[in-house]
Amino acid sequence: MTDHQLSRRSALAGLGGTAVIGALSTSLLTGPEASAATPVQTTVPVPATDPAGSPPLNKKVEQRVGALLKRMTLAEKLGQLQLVNTPDLARKALATTPCGGVFSVIGAAQLNALQKQAVQHTRLGIPLIFGLDVIHGYTTNFPIPLGQASSFDPAVAETDAIVSAAEARRSGINWTYSPMMDVTHEPRWGRIAEGDGEDPYLASQMAVAKVRGYQGSDYSAPDKVAACAKHYVAYGGTEGGRDYNTVDVSIQELHNHYLPPFKASVAAGVATLMASFNTVAGVPAHANSYTLRNVLKDAFDFNGFVVSDYTGIQELIMHGVAGDGADAAAAGITAGVDMEMVSTNYVDFGKELLARGRISQSEIDDAVRRILRVKYSLGLFEHPYVDEAGEVTAVSAAARAKARSTGSRSMVLLKNDQAVLPLQKTAKVAVIGPLAVATYDLNGTWSGLGTGAGTTPPVTVLDGIRAAAGSPASVTYARGCDIESADTSGFAAATAAAAAADVVVLALGESAAMSGEASARSNIDLPGVQQQLLASVVVAGKPVVVVLFNGRPLTLQSTHDTATAILEAWAPGVEAGNAVADVLFGKVNPGGKLPVSFPRAVGQIPIYYNHQNTGRPADPNNKYTSKYLDLATGPLYGFGFGLSYTSFTISAPKLSSPRMNRHGGHLTVSVDVVNTGAVAGDEVVQLYVHDPVASIAQPVRRLRGFRRVGLQAGQSKRVTFTLTTDDVGFYDNRARFLVETGLVEVYVGNSSAADQKVTFTVV
Ligand code: BGC
Repeated sequence: MTDHQLSRRSALAGLGGTAVIGALSTSLLTGPEASAATPVQTTVPVPATDPAGSPPLNKKVEQRVGALLKRMTLAEKLGQLQLVNTPDLARKALATTPCGGVFSVIGAAQLNALQKQAVQHTRLGIPLIFGLDVIHGYTTNFPIPLGQASSFDPAVAETDAIVSAAEARRSGINWTYSPMMDVTHEPRWGRIAEGDGEDPYLASQMAVAKVRGYQGSDYSAPDKVAACAKHYVAYGGTEGGRDYNTVDVSIQELHNHYLPPFKASVAAGVATLMASFNTVAGVPAHANSYTLRNVLKDAFDFNGFVVSDYTGIQELIMHGVAGDGADAAAAGITAGVDMEMVSTNYVDFGKELLARGRISQSEIDDAVRRILRVKYSLGLFEHPYVDEAGEVTAVSAAARAKARSTGSRSMVLLKNDQAVLPLQKTAKVAVIGPLAVATYDLNGTWSGLGTGAGTTPPVTVLDGIRAAAGSPASVTYARGCDIESADTSGFAAATAAAAAADVVVLALGESAAMSGEASARSNIDLPGVQQQLLASVVVAGKPVVVVLFNGRPLTLQSTHDTATAILEAWAPGVEAGNAVADVLFGKVNPGGKLPVSFPRAVGQIPIYYNHQNTGRPADPNNKYTSKYLDLATGPLYGFGFGLSYTSFTISAPKLSSPRMNRHGGHLTVSVDVVNTGAVAGDEVVQLYVHDPVASIAQPVRRLRGFRRVGLQAGQSKRVTFTLTTDDVGFYDNRARFLVETGLVEVYVGNSSAADQKVTFTVV
């Protein structure tokens, strides 16, 4: 019996032999395995070999933390667990029981003044930690994280993090609430804009790059900040896409799908984590000792601290797991949330809870120790103040250049009929649409916090195109309509502008406020009358290039059917218009790929590439299969999809070995990628695995490698991926990581539809 058959048998054993009925059971049980009386167990748990656990503790820091802890009163300890969000609250706390930190307060002078009160006018002089949501930029706004993920280039995320960390730290902020790494299947959820899309592997790579960029090797450096991996955990599973909503998730899904980016971030040394607003299988994440203690602090060996989300401890009452504030505090502290944001239950009830034995001294000490550890690691005891002269209030030329290149690197070409793109410099271009002269909307959610109202407005699409075109006079503009209103009075002028031009660039999409926190949409069509605007512009008979600005996948079937070309630009940040023009005129050849599936219709949600197969996979010729009566199968644009101005071939994958030892084995997969077109361009070579027979049903594809490769016309490069047992193993419903023997299929190509296959056997 082959290994493949052995592992197949173990999968059948999992069915219990009796649970299958009807025609399906007959076809499943007619192989050689069907007659075996005793199933052979080949499912041997093998510990994950990928690095887990925070980097080792610094002895000196530990000694100092221990010494300080000994000098602290209970009130001083509880104070460290409190995070406030106004200068007034901070001043008040510092005058009585010093708080641990302040967030959402900006300005170097103001932060220094608060720090002075903490360091010079409190008994122990413990410095404050200063937090802010530096999500995709402090002074310089980079593309939104979903856009950055589209680059399939971790260097893009790292570049943002390096620039943002320096700008923030020099302005007094030493702690960012980023990276957000909530894997999600929910385009209706506004917060999809803040993360990396639907894939745990891609999200892990981007998250680790961000942590590295923010923290460097030593986040006490004057241009580094402590990062915060959020939101822990499974927030992306929010039912119906409504924010803050319930998440009910199996253990295997939690571990295979939602936890990997957090695990990877902990291994990369992330200083802090933030708990999420949702429940996880009935237990709110803020009171979830399984996810916080058993998984994060024990199994992952995380030694930084966990902060609650905004009033997340107080919300345990509304969730219905705490009767009052004291209950909420007890639940949060015992579960392992170390610092409370905004609500004040830890400081209000900590003493009483300790006296009644509902929380322990060691739980309090552990939380304080974790917070002090991060403060020492930030170097705050040596350098509590920031040099006010170094505050970064303007976008530098160097940061601008980086925003421009990461902006264009994050764009995805979805359609390009008649090779209408790139545009000729000599073409007469009509720039039309509600986003054509938009500014702040091109930053997307979470922007402009660093410098407040004075943040630099992004370059508009119209200005970018005028600057890039052969002559600015050849570029005309008509607004057409607003983003959301029902007013069509601008349509006639838009159609006339289109008729007078050679080509139309139609800038459509969402406002910044339509994605992000508390910004769920039940309908993800283009808002307002934008679809009708496209229809009326097309009437002019000129090629229409739609450029999309949006914080989530949209339902684009009509746009796809009508437009000549579609460029997904997301929210590109401060250099938006220039980055768009770079791509439209071919200075940059688009090479991004979708980090999330675009559904054909909202009723198809959730739709994602790494789904299980079902017992009856969709078959257009068989009604009794998993599909809709009224919709084609699959997404409109799948995960990993994106076009280029050139063409590529990827050779059949070659393995270094037909076998992998399940105890720490590895092998390589190589392909040659060739630019077969006439211009230079980037291809993202993607590697997916599939385990066709396992003890629990496996996704039809799982991304386990990607490489963005730049190639001159005619150039060829070899791309080699290394696969280890971590790439073929998975967690079961007892949270055991299993590496099972048997066949593994490997697919390599340029999207999740990759069909060049090679197989090996895990032995
Ligand atoms: C969000 C977090 C954010 C926090 C602080 C909350 O509402 O969920 O992502 O970090 O506010 O601003």
